[in-house]
Amino acid sequence: MFGSLRSKLIASYAFVIFLSLVLAGTGFTFLLRYYQTQLRLNYLADISLPLTAELWWYERRGVSQADINQSLQDQAARLSQLDLRLLLVDSRRMITFDTGGSLVGQSLPDPSDQRQRSGVPIEWGVLNPPDGKPLTFMVVHLRPDRDTARLGRDNLVVAVPEQTVTSAWLQLAPGLTGAAILAMIISVAVALVLARSIAGPLAQVTKASEQMAKGDFEQFIPVSGTDEIAQLATSFNTMAREVGQMNRTMRDLLANVSHDLRTPLTSIEGFAQAMIDGTIKTHEEFVDAARIIGDEAERMHRLVEDLLYLSKIESGQIRIERKNLDIPALLAACVRQVQPQAAHAGLSVELDALPVPPVLADSHRLQQVFVNLLDNAVKHTPAGGKVHVRAYSEPAPVRTFEHGRGKPKQSPPWVAVEVHNTGSHIPPEHVDRIFERFYRVDRSRKDDGSGLGLAIVREIVQAHNGRVTVKSDAQTGTTFTVLLPSAA
Ligand SMILES: Nc1ncnc2c1ncn2[C@@H]1O[C@H](COP(=O)(O)OP(=O)(O)O)[C@@H](O)[C@H]1O
Ligand SMILES: [Mg+2]
Repeated sequence: MFGSLRSKLIASYAFVIFLSLVLAGTGFTFLLRYYQTQLRLNYLADISLPLTAELWWYERRGVSQADINQSLQDQAARLSQLDLRLLLVDSRRMITFDTGGSLVGQSLPDPSDQRQRSGVPIEWGVLNPPDGKPLTFMVVHLRPDRDTARLGRDNLVVAVPEQTVTSAWLQLAPGLTGAAILAMIISVAVALVLARSIAGPLAQVTKASEQMAKGDFEQFIPVSGTDEIAQLATSFNTMAREVGQMNRTMRDLLANVSHDLRTPLTSIEGFAQAMIDGTIKTHEEFVDAARIIGDEAERMHRLVEDLLYLSKIESGQIRIERKNLDIPALLAACVRQVQPQAAHAGLSVELDALPVPPVLADSHRLQQVFVNLLDNAVKHTPAGGKVHVRAYSEPAPVRTFEHGRGKPKQSPPWVAVEVHNTGSHIPPEHVDRIFERFYRVDRSRKDDGSGLGLAIVREIVQAHNGRVTVKSDAQTGTTFTVLLPSAA
């Protein structure tokens, strides 16, 4: 029955409302009970006063006892809807007359309480007749200064069933119940609306997640407000966007890998076929074919190795061994490594390294970064061109302020390494994308590149909390800049 969040919310709202109504109602009735009793006693006093005055007047006029009794009977009959009895008591509190008849001869108990009404002292108490329910009695002392005992006169007593006094508050019960039911109905209606406003967006999130599970990643939930539900919707949208992006990246990756494997495989297959059907006959032809097959296999091997390496860095499986590194020395080693290739292409490689603070880094990984950049530079520089490597330190960008004001926090300087080459130009529309996996500006270019080199460079630099940027124009050539935070 309470399966859905909405019904749970409604049930809990209803329970809380019911509980507060019961508590408020109980407290209210408790207070009311007292006031209703007081009201009832005042009402009795208001009836007793004129009746007592009348009795006095009769006695002063010398009206006979029989006439007085008759008059009391008439008055009791007139007030019959109050279920009221009129008694007379003598100075020793003996009941001498009772409009109900049965109490004559009994003595009136002592009052349980007394007070003033309109300046007149009043006393009341409870009387237990032998033959019926308890009665609340009230005596009005109209002229307390006159001693009734001395005058030998009787006092008037008004008695009503005790229950009509103590249960007077019950008359209010139907009204109170009605109000409670009305309040309950209105609050449940409000609870319905509230529950819908909470459960509605959740249902949307659920629906969208189900769609995502079915493979439809283009999900968006409209967000309104800033409450937790809105935050949930915002987080969901972010997640949907990222999962969608990841899905696209994975599809692209698969397409790229299969595409890049197809070319070498086709060529290997072709040569193998040619060997089988006898197109390749001579020993030299076999050697040539075998070399090409070997090269293609090596290329595929490198591609697979690079991919594995990238995924290892991304998943954090590759540990970065941080040591204090002397960047100029590292650069010199890298330059030596590409020197033969550069000489072969007819290029000069120059290194200009200023003294820089050490960098906490993994020398093997950083060497990979610089060799990749140098290799690209050598590959893309036209013959007769120049590759220029520079290292210098640069003040850290001043951005961090303590508590938003005061002195800027002093961070250690950055170490910058620039790899510049002449004669190559990356058009602006490609500049933003060359760090993506498999991205190559000119896919038709015949070199052994897979487009993974710069992706690896960026991953390694980021793992060292650094940045890598590129600038390129047709006149001066292309410059890659690696910025690393120094250890100083
Ligand atoms: N120094 C450079 N000059 C011109 N273009 C470059 C240079 N370095 C990289 N590129 C471009 O960026 C692309 C991606 O480089 P990279 O990720 O190293 O892949 P690969 O070298 O395997 O082609 C290259 O294909 C090339 O188009
Ligand atoms: Mg490369």
